[in-house]
Amino acid sequence: MTRVIIDTDPGTDDAIALIAALNSPELDIAGLTTVTGNTSLQDATRNALGLLTSLRNFDIRVHIGADTPLTGEFALAEHYHGPGGMTIELPESVEMLSAVPADRYISSAAATFDEAITIIALGPLTNVAVAIQRRPEVKDRIKEIFVMGGAVEVGGNVTQYAEFNIYDDPRAANVVFDSGIPITLVGLDVCERVAFGLAETDWRSGTSTGERLAARIIEGWFEIHPEYDRYVLCDPLTVAAAIAPDLLTYRHAGITVVEEGEQKGRTRADYKGTEVKVAVDVEVESARQLILDRLRTAD
Ligand code: RIB
Ligand code: CA
Repeated sequence: MTRVIIDTDPGTDDAIALIAALNSPELDIAGLTTVTGNTSLQDATRNALGLLTSLRNFDIRVHIGADTPLTGEFALAEHYHGPGGMTIELPESVEMLSAVPADRYISSAAATFDEAITIIALGPLTNVAVAIQRRPEVKDRIKEIFVMGGAVEVGGNVTQYAEFNIYDDPRAANVVFDSGIPITLVGLDVCERVAFGLAETDWRSGTSTGERLAARIIEGWFEIHPEYDRYVLCDPLTVAAAIAPDLLTYRHAGITVVEEGEQKGRTRADYKGTEVKVAVDVEVESARQLILDRLRTAD
């Protein structure tokens, strides 16, 4: 099992990713940390707590993170994920809320756990960057970071250049990519190819708690987006990469992020570099099936 912290800005695809992660025997989820991104920090945190409650997982703690990026301001994505970042009502719950803030939790987990921690980062990288900046020594105790982010050889989804998570805190992304920690980057180059289609029935026909919760979230998403006929699975694919890395093909590169101007958030690759494992291809059907399988909870 891999001991992981999931840093997240739920957000509907984060929610699908969290359901799958919580059902994956390969992952020992030590805790969740929340960050502003798809919605406000308050709503991202409320959604994380509501998801755990819906899945009757009362053991995992949620650590609140950043409400401002290292530079500038966060742009939200409620136009895409729905008001408050979610398309359905989730139970209100605060009992899993921790008093330890996200960056302190990440650095203390890295420093104290028996084995080096793996981070699955599904939102802007602010929490991870702050943890590294405040306690640089923990870098050696972070085994790997799976980052959902970037658009290296394809166009962006916020601007023509930039993917949302990187766009929202480009400085933090540079801190993380330059840290020397092993990074696996799962970006739009691969994740936009993995989706659930409006006309498909497999993602909506499950009967377990996790499958029904995921189906309700995605059906709610299609209801507010008549302009789309497929639901893209970027965060769930990043969890799949942590579970079954061989589903993707990688190319090593140095990644630098443009921090301001028209190309803010652009992820530039130097293929003579080796710091980042960039996902450049994916076994689409196998990845989609793994995600689908992991939504099934053992009710
Ligand atoms: O660009 C997609 C990423 O931005 C996903 O993580 C989505 O949840 C949003 O955070
Ligand atoms: Ca996300």
